[in-house]
Amino acid sequence: MATWTPVAQVGDISPDTGTLRVALDGEAVCLYDLQGEICATQDRCPHGNASLADGYLEDGTIECPLHQGVFDIRSGKPQCPPVTTDLRRYAVRVEAGTIYLSPE
Ligand code: FES
Repeated sequence: MATWTPVAQVGDISPDTGTLRVALDGEAVCLYDLQGEICATQDRCPHGNASLADGYLEDGTIECPLHQGVFDIRSGKPQCPPVTTDLRRYAVRVEAGTIYLSPE
């Protein structure tokens, strides 16, 4: 059975970046607001030591701030070099403005 952990309020996600870095079980997780659809992936880029919450969000993708690798946020799939590894994704539930996460 899934374990749901509250990590933030929807309003905590920056309207400027569309992202928010939170922690779940000691792991950094990046939340994304895709025009009202909340998604979550691991925050650390698998290519290097960069936080995807500091990246550039566009059309359901996140561009890493360090070497501009791009990931599809919903699937976690890498879209262009130098990134080649999928992002870990988290299941998201929103209730009364609170965002809950569960490891997928
Ligand atoms: Fe993200 Fe290199 S650290 S693309």
